[in-house]
Parts: sequence; C-alpha cells; structure tokens
Amino acid sequence: MTTSIKLKHLLRIEDLSDKELMGLLTVAEEYKAKTRSFKLEKQVTACNLFFENSTRTHRSFEMAQRKLGLDVIQFDASTSSTSKGESLYDTILTMSAIGIDVCVIRHNQDEYYKQLVESPSITCSIINGGDGKGQHPTQCLLDLMTIYEEFKTFKGLKIAIVGDIRNSRVARSNAIMLKRLNAELYFCGPQQWLDPAFDEYGQRTELDKIIDQMDVVMLLRVQHERHHEETSFSKEEYHQEFGLTLERAKKMKPSAIIMHPAPVNRDVELADALVESKASRIIAQMTNGVYIRMAVLEAILAYRSNL
Ligand code: CP
Repeated sequence: MTTSIKLKHLLRIEDLSDKELMGLLTVAEEYKAKTRSFKLEKQVTACNLFFENSTRTHRSFEMAQRKLGLDVIQFDASTSSTSKGESLYDTILTMSAIGIDVCVIRHNQDEYYKQLVESPSITCSIINGGDGKGQHPTQCLLDLMTIYEEFKTFKGLKIAIVGDIRNSRVARSNAIMLKRLNAELYFCGPQQWLDPAFDEYGQRTELDKIIDQMDVVMLLRVQHERHHEETSFSKEEYHQEFGLTLERAKKMKPSAIIMHPAPVNRDVELADALVESKASRIIAQMTNGVYIRMAVLEAILAYRSNL
C-alpha cells in the first residue's frame, strides 16, 4: 500500500492541510489495526537528534523507524561535537552530507528549523520533535488520533487544556489544530501561565466552572525547567487549586476522557490514581505515538521517493 500524502518536512501543525491531517490519522489507524503494511523500496537512514531530554518522542520515533525498516543512526548530543561548540546548522549539514535522509530534531530554540530548511546544502527531511516553546506537531497528531478514536469527530467537542499553557508547545499545536477542526477550547490554570495569545483559539476560565461539561480534559506537564521565576504555590497547592483531583474527576461526564502528553507529575497535574484509570487515555496516547510517527515517516518517504 502506498500513501498519497507527501511531506518534505513536518515543522508546524498548521502546515498540514485538513486532507493531509485526516489522511495521516487514517494511515496511523491502519497501522494500528495491522491492516496496512509497508515495504521500503530503497535504503533509508534516519537520525534522531534530541538536544532536550525525551523518552516518548525519541523512542517512539525509533520504534516507528524500525517498524518501517529504516536504518537508524544513533546521536547523543552530550558526546557530539556540539559539546565543542558546533552549531545545530553545522551538525545537520554534516548529517545531510554523510547521507542521512531524515532527521528528527528536538531543540530548545523556537523555530530552530528555519535556517535548516532554507539551506540549499541541507537535503535531508526535517521532522520537528519539539522546538523551544514553539510546537510539537507529532504530539498534536497523536492527541488528535486519540480523540478521534474516541469520538469519531472533533466538531463541537468541548476540550479543556489545563496548566502551563504559556510554556507549552503541546498546547500551542493542539490549540491551532483543534480550533481549525471546530472543537470548543477552554484554557485553565494559574493566571501567570495563561496566555492572551491563545484567546483566538478559545476562552480562559476556571476548571471548576466547566469540568462537568467537558468531553476531554487535557492536562499539561508543569515545566519546572522553563520557569525562571519562583512559583507562588507548592506542588500540593497546585494540585488542589488547578489539578485534576479525585474530587474534580467525579464531576466529569461519564463519557469524558483524560489526556496528558506525559511525562506526568503524579499528584500534581492529576491524581496518581487517575493516570491509569478507566477514563484515562494516557497509555493510548503513548501507543498511538508509534503509529502516527509511522504515518508521518511514510509521507516523508513518499515525498523523497520522487527525488
Ligand atoms: N510527550 C513528550 O513529548 O514526551 P517526551 O518528552 O518523553 O518525548
């Protein structure tokens, strides 16, 4: 089976058309259902360059690459020549020059990819595994897959995104795409973590005012590494005031689901007992990450097969 979706790179979620987006979800579902197979026509080599720590994105990309038959070259930022001062640009120029076809990159600089994709000397495809406080497009895709599996639509779904909105690339990618797909979005959390830049996608409110109406409650990780000012609350206070406590969870609709991109701070963003509860789709999100990344890689390979 070959895909009709062809992607040179995947950098920002809004770069996908609705048709490409729904096509990727379909391909991922087919991989998950084992009704789709893939045969590599020529050798393809991928390298995953994570300059920020990762478990899920890094390893599920590697799993997806291996399932599709790609060769995977290892890269460890801490032992690479970046520790001698080599720039990201020169690192990726090197990867391209030695014959890497696809680079998955996570880096703390917003839009790090701009200079890379504009360079005529860099010929590999770039998949954004997270740029600074910018975007996390494959997390968004796996979140959309998980929501679509549950509700078979996005239109009219009421979705609360809760927590560290301002610092979250997951919130940004999801807000952009869920708004385009006609979901109703609500942003909740401490005042200093809400961001007026998100007002075009939804409404700022308190979780307690809306929790009983939500179809999806999406918690975000508290990103201690991005907080340079002291926060005015402890982990326990955050949990009680803004988190999904057991008491709050009891007010959710029976059909509502709980999501979190993970890693989870248990008993901070949500109660420990809710992480693996019946309403939680956190494990499904991680599983879907492999299949959605297979779909993205297949679309990249379809583009590159014409080169
Ligand atoms: N959700 C996510 O991006 O997790 P990792 O940081 O472990 O990749």
